[in-house]
Amino acid sequence: MRNIIIDCDPGIDDALALILALSDLDFNILGIVAVAGNLPIQTTTRNILRILTLMDRLDVPVIAGYGNPLKREPVSASEVHGDDGLGNVDLTANPSIKVEDIEVEAFYHSMLCQHKDVEIITLGPLTNIAKTMMCYPTIFEAAKSLVAMGGAFDVPGNCSPVAEYNIWADPHAAKMVFKGFSEPITCVGLDVTRKTLLTPNYMEFIKTSGSPIATFINKALQFYLEFHWQNNRVMGCEMHDPLAVAIALYENIGKVYQADVDVICEGDAIGQTIAHKNGQGNVSIVYQVDRKKFLELLIGNIFPQLKEDLACMIDNPIYGVF
Ligand code: BDR
Ligand code: CA
Repeated sequence: MRNIIIDCDPGIDDALALILALSDLDFNILGIVAVAGNLPIQTTTRNILRILTLMDRLDVPVIAGYGNPLKREPVSASEVHGDDGLGNVDLTANPSIKVEDIEVEAFYHSMLCQHKDVEIITLGPLTNIAKTMMCYPTIFEAAKSLVAMGGAFDVPGNCSPVAEYNIWADPHAAKMVFKGFSEPITCVGLDVTRKTLLTPNYMEFIKTSGSPIATFINKALQFYLEFHWQNNRVMGCEMHDPLAVAIALYENIGKVYQADVDVICEGDAIGQTIAHKNGQGNVSIVYQVDRKKFLELLIGNIFPQLKEDLACMIDNPIYGVF
């Protein structure tokens, strides 16, 4: 079984990413770590508990990480995700799940000492990883890889003309991780996540499953869709974090090039990610994705009972792909 740690800031798309990872019982999820990003740390931590309750996965440890970026002032994206971070849906956390009584650095240290080949996936700012590197400079040598949702390389940003949110929210942490993380990093940025829209057609299709997970996904995505329509005139939900999880856990969805990545930490361009494409570098930047394969994976893994209909819908020779 593959050992996985997910560090995230739920967030509607984080929630869908967690649901995707939790749907596959072949992964040993060592813990889900909260970081402040989309919302403050209390909210992102609580949202992990709410999602685990929905998925009936009370066995997965939850760790509360950092509530403040390394240097800059905290930011929030409640207009994208709702005041509760999940589109203001009616979802409670089972009071029997508790947050682990451990500091985030100690959690990473203990997992990396106990388990081989740990794969880390980050779906929010890189604060927890940077803080752990500061505390235990060589500990990540024991990890297998890091897949990070973050960055905008050859496309505009989503919170400034040049910056992507996760990097912008803690640029100093991102800079430190891209420079100093000892193991291979894969960066899943806006270059590809904006190309993997989940359109209302698919949202309607998910509803046909009729399960509580489908109900939750639809209600939360409705909020997210409204944001994308009102602000960008896009009729679809950008699947940033689910794409990062899909690329980390499954093969052959994206193509990459190697680069060194630098992050601008001050001024108007704060949060900009710059790829030095020298054919080498420690970061694999995903520049192309197979949207159809991704949607098949996302919907098919969460709702296996819909796989057959999904294949018909995606390949329908008359109507084509939506
Ligand atoms: C990233 O920012 C957050 O709002 C999303 O959850 C995602 O991780 C996209 O820029
Ligand atoms: Ca996120």
